Formats: sequence, C-alpha cells, structure tokens
Amino acid sequence: MNMLEQAVKNVIIDENRLKLIISELGRKISEDYKDKNLLLVSVLKGSVVFMADLMRAIKIPCSVDFMCVSSYGNGVKTSGVVKIVKDIDINLKGYDLLIVEDILDSGLTLSYLEEILSARNPASIKICTLLDKPSRHMTDIKPDYVGAVVPDVFIIGYGLDYDEKYRNLPYVAEIDEKYI
Ligand code: IMP
Ligand code: MG
Repeated sequence: MNMLEQAVKNVIIDENRLKLIISELGRKISEDYKDKNLLLVSVLKGSVVFMADLMRAIKIPCSVDFMCVSSYGNGVKTSGVVKIVKDIDINLKGYDLLIVEDILDSGLTLSYLEEILSARNPASIKICTLLDKPSRHMTDIKPDYVGAVVPDVFIIGYGLDYDEKYRNLPYVAEIDEKYI
C-alpha cells in the first residue's frame, strides 16, 4: 500500500469500471451532439481528470474550456456560496454547452453555474456529472448525463479532493474517517 492509499477506506469505482462508464458517456454524447456545436466546460479543479478522459471518449469535433469555482472553506460540507475564481474565455453564443462536473452533491454549485451561464445565451445547456449523490440534493437540478450514483459518504480520488489532497488517486474511493 502506498502513502496515498492509506487514506482509502474502500474503493467505490475502480479504474476498469471508470473506463467503461466514460466510454459509454462519450458514446452517448457523441451521438446526441453530432449535429450540434458542442462546447465542454469543465468545472475545475475536481473535474479535471474526468474531463481529460471524457473529451477523448467523445468522437465528434468539440471545443473545451475551463472554469474554476470554489465554495468558501475547505472542509467536507459545501457552504452554498460559490466564488468564480476563473471564468471561461469563449463567448457562449451559438454553442451547445455541456457542463462537466465531478460530483453533484447539494446541487448548489451547479444551479448557480447553470443560472449564470444560461444568462449568456448559449444555444443549449446541459449537465454531465461523473458522480451523483441524489440523497443530498437541495435543489431540483437534474443532470442530463450521470456516470454513477454514489452513496452519501465522503469521496476522494479521480480528481476529487479532501482538503486539496488525494485528487491523484486513479480511482474513486471512500475516505477513511481517520483522515478527516
Ligand atoms: P455541491 O454544490 O454541494 O453539489 O458540491 C459541489 C462541490 O463540492 C463538488 O464539485 C465537489 O468539488 C465538492 N464535493 C461534494 N461532495 C464531495 C465528496 O464527497 N468528495 C469531494 N468533494 C465533494
Ligand atoms: Mg472540491
């Protein structure tokens, strides 16, 4: 066991299953957007690993951009207040926007993002999240593409952090409470 793996209580989605999930998402998105002008917008930092794999599983031409938001604080619970740390560069007019997120928890981050991005008049706007914790939703947000539904435990790895660490674990795991 390496130093990173010591914080893992159990593996929720291993690398092989992640590959299958992402190639299926890529296949669906390629089909749905084949006559559209797809722009993937990744929400940093959590979705960076997912974005890197998802964009290569998409088999139609598309554009990519990045946005960095953070909820205030660095603990395990979202504060509901979201700060735009870095905005996208592309003008959204004429683009079919697909927001790429790591995890949908309370939904507060995504509802806020959806609101400010739809005000910029893209041709369409949809949400793709790798993970969904439906039991925790506090808004009526409905993701259009979901990789996997996960239980209400604190998740690390494959981009997801606890206090800015463990993003580099290559799979999705539950953190050992000792490390919180
Ligand atoms: P929401 O606004 O509550 O839906 O959560 C937004 C952000 O909180 C996500 O994009 C993640 O960065 C973070 N987050 C929520 N749940 C977890 C988790 O279980 N592990 C790591 N980060 C999480
Ligand atoms: Mg985070």
